[in-house]
Amino acid sequence: MKRIAVIPGDGIGIDVTRESMRVLRRVNEIFAARLEFVEFDWGAEKYLKEGIALPPGAFEMFRRDFDAILFGAIGDPRIPDQRHAAEILLALRFGLDLYANVRPVRLIDERLCPLKGVRAEDVNFTVIRENTEGAYVNSGGVFKKGTPDEVATQVEVHTRKGVDRILEYAFEYARRNGKTKVCMSDKSNVMAYAGELWQRCLKEAAARHPQIQTSHLYIDALCLLMVRQPKDFQVIVTNNMFGDIVTDLAAALQGGLGMAASGNIHPNAVSLFEPVHGSSPPLAGKNLANPMGSILTSAMMLDHLGLGDAARAVEIAVIACVKEGKTTQDIGGSLGTREVGEAVIAKIQ
Ligand code: IPM
Ligand code: MN
Repeated sequence: MKRIAVIPGDGIGIDVTRESMRVLRRVNEIFAARLEFVEFDWGAEKYLKEGIALPPGAFEMFRRDFDAILFGAIGDPRIPDQRHAAEILLALRFGLDLYANVRPVRLIDERLCPLKGVRAEDVNFTVIRENTEGAYVNSGGVFKKGTPDEVATQVEVHTRKGVDRILEYAFEYARRNGKTKVCMSDKSNVMAYAGELWQRCLKEAAARHPQIQTSHLYIDALCLLMVRQPKDFQVIVTNNMFGDIVTDLAAALQGGLGMAASGNIHPNAVSLFEPVHGSSPPLAGKNLANPMGSILTSAMMLDHLGLGDAARAVEIAVIACVKEGKTTQDIGGSLGTREVGEAVIAKIQ
């Protein structure tokens, strides 16, 4: 038995997670997966009503009682600074030490790619984003606030341990998935201190993995080449902020945010799986959101839980629906969220 904590969150997070749950229940029937679900109503609504973002004891509970977390999306216009997002999603990433944000980028059908002359097989790489430090530690301060001499600092934190473990994860991911190349991206020409640490750790990681071809690109050059030559890439590893930015660009290559899946992973602990997209308030509750990002995310979760056959079956079902045009409008179809969920479910075998 595997226990899954489900946090639909806000906006379309609720719509797409509902479809993922239906898919997972189907997986239970077909594969005797014995997944059990417990739903948590954490998000803007609860935060506004009760002032609670993440209830006390949440980390301990997840570590003790659950095998994985399936997350929808978080963000609500009634909370302009999105404080609850930081207190829920970022807090879970940090509190559970989910240091590897794994974002596969795979073009299912060339019609989904905005680039011309790109075949489906040309876009098939994974971004491994450091997920617990960098710009996201929110270290810094303000001075002389509200005066003309106002100062704000925002400090990035890169630790030897943090850089080492994300690089090791990337090389190990490459090995495990039959990939031969790892590209590390940074801005070491400008951010010399952090850059030098990443560069030094990369040399050592490369030496530990001589069978993998290691390369380096500055982040600006990576953006250019990801658009011009996506097929050059297999595994990209980068820091938290660059990883955030570049995975939106990468999502565009595979049909937009509606198609992008991710896992926030600690290899030996409970991990959290979420589509890359946000809560998209204008689409929420209208049966318009594309559930495929969430469904592909569920497949990643199944894989992580050791249910590789079920994961593959879900992926194959999604691919079949895309090929047949059984999709939402964002990728050219005319179905609603629910109907796409049903179409995927009908194809799982
Ligand atoms: C993502 C999101 C989050 C991030 C936001 C919602 C805090 O953009 O998962 O990519 O910046 O990490
Ligand atoms: Mn992002």
